[in-house]
Amino acid sequence: MKKDLKNLVIAIDGPAGAGKTTVAKALASRLEIPYFSTGAMYRALALKCLRSGKNPENKDDAEQIAKSAKLSLKYANGKQSVILDGEDVTDMLYSDQISVGASQISVHKYVREKMVDIQRQVANQQNVIMDGRDIGSVVLPMAKYKFYLDADVNVRAKRRYDELLSKGSQISFEEVLQDMKERDFRDKNRDISPLIVCDDAVVIDSTNLSVEQVVDEFISKIK
Ligand code: DC
Repeated sequence: MKKDLKNLVIAIDGPAGAGKTTVAKALASRLEIPYFSTGAMYRALALKCLRSGKNPENKDDAEQIAKSAKLSLKYANGKQSVILDGEDVTDMLYSDQISVGASQISVHKYVREKMVDIQRQVANQQNVIMDGRDIGSVVLPMAKYKFYLDADVNVRAKRRYDELLSKGSQISFEEVLQDMKERDFRDKNRDISPLIVCDDAVVIDSTNLSVEQVVDEFISKIK
């Protein structure tokens, strides 16, 4: 399905594990435009922070990391890559520790401003599907289509748990659930650009839907 591709900007926000990136990928393939998962950028900063022995919750540490990080997003052959200081770190970003660190480092003003700048530059150059927490509200408020993808927290935690298990993680379901609840709280209650449902967003609940059903729901709204 190829749409009129002029100025096609699609913003997808929602809590962790709702399926945003999976849907963004599938839509990107159906619409033949790139997707960018902005959480990967905060994850890359968390990786740099933890590698440097710094604390993502500490404002000065977080700023120093964000200032010194050379971060870029690439999209090729249906896959997004994150380049951090010249290194492709894409496959190092999805542990539970990095998920928590990304949520912690993302509360800081300087960090957010720098990431938003890069994200806007990426979206200015092309049609995109971008997912995150503040895409419809802050990064791309003029997006033609805005979605808020949600799901029950137990279902989201189970999806993330299965994903971590398949990668050989030893973490328990209870830990994943607890981390996800804390992450939800932090992402929704931080002072700067918290996760909100925009007035003009279409809300889709993926709790009882398969990936295909969710993608079909999205496609039906993109006219
Ligand atoms: O989407 P994700 O799970 O990869 O995001 C990881 C963390 O990054 C998330 O808990 C909060 C932060 N984040 C953000 O603050 N703003 C975004 N646009 C994307 C992610």
